Amino acid sequence: MLLHIFARIWFIVVFIRQNVNCAHHSYEDRRDSASHASVRHQNWQRLEMMDRNGLYWLEWQIKENYIYFKVTVNTRGFIGLGFSQKDGRMYSADMVLLWVDDQTGKPNALDCHGSIQHAHGAPIQDDTQNYNVIDGYQNGTHTYVAFKRLLETCDPYDIPLGHDTIKVLWSFGKIDPIHGNLEGHGQNRGAKPLLLMNPVFRKQNKTNNQLTHQWDIVVNNVTLEPSMDTLYWCKIIRAPILHRKHHIIGYEPLLTHVSTADDTVVHHMTLFECSAKSYPGSDSESWDVWVRSTGTVCNSNSLTPRDWDSCSTPVAVWSVGSTGQFLPHHVGIPIGGSSGVKYYMLEIHYDNPKALRAVDHSGFRIHYTPQLRANDGGIIISGVSISDTQIIPPGQKLYRNVGICGPSCSNVLFPEDGIKIISGTLHTHRAGRKMSLRHIRGGKELQRIIEDDNYDYKYQQFHQLANETVVLPGDFIITDCAYDTTHRKRATFGGYSTKHEMCLSFITYYPKIELAGCYSMTPVREFFEMFGVNQFYSLNMTDVENLFLYNGNLLDYMPNTIYAKTKPNQTNMSAEDIVVEGSLLNKLLISDPVEFHDRTFLSHINQLPWSEPLFTKRVEHAMITGKHMTFCRVSNESMSIPSEIIRYPNFTSFVKPPSSCTYNLLIDSIQLNSNGSRSVAPLSLSLLLVGICVKNI
Ligand SMILES: *[C@@H]1O[C@H](CO)[C@@H](O)[C@H](O)[C@H]1NC(C)=O
Ligand SMILES: *[C@@H]1O[C@H](CO)[C@@H](O)[C@H](O)[C@H]1NC(C)=O
Ligand SMILES: *[C@@H]1O[C@H](CO)[C@@H](O)[C@H](O)[C@H]1NC(C)=O
Ligand SMILES: *[C@@H]1O[C@H](CO)[C@@H](O)[C@H](O)[C@H]1NC(C)=O
Ligand SMILES: *[C@@H]1O[C@H](CO)[C@@H](O)[C@H](O)[C@H]1NC(C)=O
Ligand SMILES: *[C@@H]1O[C@H](CO)[C@@H](O)[C@H](O)[C@H]1NC(C)=O
Ligand SMILES: *[C@@H]1O[C@H](CO)[C@@H](O)[C@H](O)[C@H]1NC(C)=O
Ligand SMILES: *[C@@H]1O[C@H](CO)[C@@H](O)[C@H](O)[C@H]1NC(C)=O
Ligand SMILES: *[C@@H]1O[C@H](CO)[C@@H](O)[C@H](O)[C@H]1NC(C)=O
Ligand SMILES: *[C@@H]1O[C@H](CO)[C@@H](O)[C@H](O)[C@H]1NC(C)=O
Repeated sequence: MLLHIFARIWFIVVFIRQNVNCAHHSYEDRRDSASHASVRHQNWQRLEMMDRNGLYWLEWQIKENYIYFKVTVNTRGFIGLGFSQKDGRMYSADMVLLWVDDQTGKPNALDCHGSIQHAHGAPIQDDTQNYNVIDGYQNGTHTYVAFKRLLETCDPYDIPLGHDTIKVLWSFGKIDPIHGNLEGHGQNRGAKPLLLMNPVFRKQNKTNNQLTHQWDIVVNNVTLEPSMDTLYWCKIIRAPILHRKHHIIGYEPLLTHVSTADDTVVHHMTLFECSAKSYPGSDSESWDVWVRSTGTVCNSNSLTPRDWDSCSTPVAVWSVGSTGQFLPHHVGIPIGGSSGVKYYMLEIHYDNPKALRAVDHSGFRIHYTPQLRANDGGIIISGVSISDTQIIPPGQKLYRNVGICGPSCSNVLFPEDGIKIISGTLHTHRAGRKMSLRHIRGGKELQRIIEDDNYDYKYQQFHQLANETVVLPGDFIITDCAYDTTHRKRATFGGYSTKHEMCLSFITYYPKIELAGCYSMTPVREFFEMFGVNQFYSLNMTDVENLFLYNGNLLDYMPNTIYAKTKPNQTNMSAEDIVVEGSLLNKLLISDPVEFHDRTFLSHINQLPWSEPLFTKRVEHAMITGKHMTFCRVSNESMSIPSEIIRYPNFTSFVKPPSSCTYNLLIDSIQLNSNGSRSVAPLSLSLLLVGICVKNI
């Protein structure tokens, strides 16, 4: 849905030098004959339609140090495939050109990279060819080529392929490269973010005899007015009537506006279980009334029934860019049965920066089965509590926030042999650039559970772990987020709208425990002390603390606490202004110390010297390694675990084993001007004319 942005990007310059020497890259030379026979029968693990019309299909799988690809494209000409860690532009990408020779029928692969000298230059042939053709053919309409490369080739012109999100570029044209001009492939190009290393548990298919049912959960006609910038909508749903326990084996989003991806207004959806204590016995009359209603704004003090607070344990989570998730065969999320949950709450976060008018009926398609799996699974939300005490200063390239889930939760709720994590989604809003889910045991950081150094907030796909991670009682898990606010003039705070930030992870695990969420935040007093503020007019710190922690509306720390915000009737107001307008921090007037007298806390924050790296680093470090107030949100309402103030644990960081390659990546490391163009060095002009993927002279 997010791909339009990249769609304009990859265009191949159209000149070809007639004497381009591709002969020595021919089929015989580089064909991997051992794998040839097997390739057509391989069970390709991953399949992705790259365009919107089913013209370009990419399949791949990882075996040992190699990644095997297969492209099947509706053309008899050339096929391009590329990888970029950045924005999906061709000039900074690692590329391969593929074609089947019309005369000889030989499949070819040519390893290239984007021109570093010119933003829209022709791709240049790499000195070392690292792609090996395995097989290929073309018929009257299609070309198919299977090929492989090392995940890490040690060629400075090839991007190492790993666990980070990567932009995969695709293109195709009508003519083979060796036949000259490639003009006219028009719209046949684009880029798509992907997690190449994800093992994907597929949707069940008919041949394996698993009986599955579908349960569609959607909102009815939620109307978004142009004046609504952010809307959190909640609806209560009755569970299907199942007399014995079943297992949810996966879920997919049902989105109203898929066809116009750029105009989609659904940013995030969560389906929560509502704890049975809130509807004891037959006293579920009001719940049945709510089931029939269309829903309401979430967590409004006046509109949302208090009982809905009991809907806190996630069973399905979707964020923009995700395709949903299917669980591995040994795990299912319980549903139904006599003691099962009767009601669920669907929460949808609408984001409407373009001030559209939209009627929405999005939701989830839940797949469940009566054939029980070996383990009950669940989902936990962890990270930074949604609060104004989460702060990211303006003008920062990579500023970190951390949310801690500590022993106060894990000691009490985890079983003795721990929980096993099978997947996770990392969630920030627009400023998120790097994210990881870290794991600390006994003063030592273990291997990162999830790490994405190329985080793309528009592609919040599940990271499925190749190996389950066991988290034991007493362990810490830390959600670590790094943000880019280079172009922001004012501080960004934690909050619900996409102009605010979040730092959350949604963790799928088993066996299911009675934990819904595990968060931390900088304690309120420490937060103000850190910025040298001792006292406000009219409210003492205890009052302020209570306001931050227990105010049911804007500043509640619970992630299902929601609001709808209306844009002021001033079209010239910037997004930043709107955020400032609504913030409680803008209402707190400093009385002590005298040097900050009569400033609001917000204006105080914005006057701090954030452009001084030493100052900013100190604040960042103090916030990370300082005190954290941890919250353990339990799904069983008869239990409660008090919040606790802890210090950041002391630990030695996990260090990735060094790469076996010694080189600096030559591509994908170029800085763009802020307007996205690059100045063209005079020499590079000639390259433009040299042709497609020619030898780098
Ligand atoms: C050509 O190949 C494509 C892809 O393998 C296949 O779908 C199509 O049916 C083939 N067409 C003919 C005429 O064989
Ligand atoms: C369907 O499931 C069976 C058994 O799990 C598997 O062997 C087969 O490859 C699957 N087919 C598809 C199209 O996924
Ligand atoms: C949604 O609105 C349309 C048009 O107003 C109406 O025809 C339809 O019945 C409504 N659907 C529901 C489920 O309320
Ligand atoms: C998963 O575990 C296997 C066996 O312990 C190990 O060989 C492999 O490297 C692990 N994979 C990852 C991605 O850690
Ligand atoms: C803070 O103010 C409240 C009244 O607003 C008062 O009840 C409370 O005792 C005060 N706390 C302290 C520590 O002064
Ligand atoms: C916004 O302001 C304009 C001019 O002041 C007025 O005509 C319009 O009705 C207002 N819109 C809303 C939604 O209040
Ligand atoms: C928006 O427009 C109003 C009236 O034209 C003006 O008074 C105000 O200063 C403007 N605000 C900004 C942020 O430009
Ligand atoms: C909730 O916790 C209490 C006390 O630990 C326990 O007795 C009860 O069975 C739990 N309820 C559920 C639904 O698990
Ligand atoms: C971490 O180490 C420092 C210095 O050794 C110590 O002051 C601090 O209390 C330790 N923190 C924890 C949580 O143990
Ligand atoms: C882009 O920025 C560069 C340097 O800041 C400037 O020279 C160039 O004119 C700008 N280009 C456009 C199209 O604004």
